[in-house]
Amino acid sequence: MKDLDTSSDTSAFELPAELDAQGRLAAACAAEALARMEAHGLVILTGLLSDAEADTGLALIRQTIDDPNRQRCAFASETDNRYVRRDFCSLPATPPVTDFVATLAQRLEAVLAHYCDRAHPLLEVTTLTSYRGASHQYIHRDPSGVISLFVAVEDVSELQGGTVFVPGTQLFDGAAPKHGDSTLERMELFRIGCNWRILRHNLAKLWDMRGSSETPLAPGEFRDRVFSRIWDEHQPNLLRFVLGKNSQFSLRMLAPRRLWNLARQRAELDRAFRLVSTAPRKGTVILYQSDMLHAGPDNRSPEPRRLFSMSIAREAISAKRWHDGYSPHPSLIAQPLSFGELLDRRVGAEQQRESDFRIAS
Ligand SMILES: [Fe+2]
Repeated sequence: MKDLDTSSDTSAFELPAELDAQGRLAAACAAEALARMEAHGLVILTGLLSDAEADTGLALIRQTIDDPNRQRCAFASETDNRYVRRDFCSLPATPPVTDFVATLAQRLEAVLAHYCDRAHPLLEVTTLTSYRGASHQYIHRDPSGVISLFVAVEDVSELQGGTVFVPGTQLFDGAAPKHGDSTLERMELFRIGCNWRILRHNLAKLWDMRGSSETPLAPGEFRDRVFSRIWDEHQPNLLRFVLGKNSQFSLRMLAPRRLWNLARQRAELDRAFRLVSTAPRKGTVILYQSDMLHAGPDNRSPEPRRLFSMSIAREAISAKRWHDGYSPHPSLIAQPLSFGELLDRRVGAEQQRESDFRIAS
């Protein structure tokens, strides 16, 4: 996005995945991955899944998206969902899906176990597909106390909307707060500055889409995305912006003193924080602390962007907080799965053979 200054240099966060004889991250690789998670809030493990495993993930996503009765997630944007600009939905806890999730949990155990006890629940398993014409999400934090991961089941280009992160902005190291009040306020100033530019970008993009033959607007879409009264935190949505009813970005965040500080500290904020745009290759897994600043950009290409995602709690969590903050499939609510159960699960023999083959070759 040209309005937003992002770096596509992800080398500081990337690590080639090395597996041991059991098909899990090798000790040295896991230690390095953990160091990056602690320092930056994320690690990008390249080649964690083989092509065949990534294909399995893609097939699970396709199966879910093709199901007319799929469970749509509202957390991204109800309006984008309504106009099929995004298709974010939760995966059912079928044996193949749980096998895939268990494979990831087992492979990443040495990193995940630093944050998650065996009793902590799997919060959700979702697919995140975005199409051309989607809005750029505001820079935001997901609910605290969670480790999430994205799996690239096929190559994702920057143009398709690979997730952007602001490294080092995670709120906690272990259980302790990582930053003081002044740093938190500076992060908030940086976020507000970015979100102002995202608002302008989303509005300009919608305006251009009015006469576009490539990405035409559906009847009523412009009105719904700009003046929507429904809950939607990632649209330009001027009505809720002005009324202060958008928790991610609204006029009430732009008090004169804040605007003054933003103008005064702009250069310093741009030196202290940077937006990093990811473009994960097939088989890459991005592991991140949920409370770091990030956003799903708009897809600016004709190719759909597909990601597989899952989240595990770092603490015990009430059902209300779980269901408010995450999108578990009804089958996962009916039969919850803990991190320990995922670790103990014997995954399909075929996947095991595939893993053995990779280690041998
Ligand atoms: Fe998010």
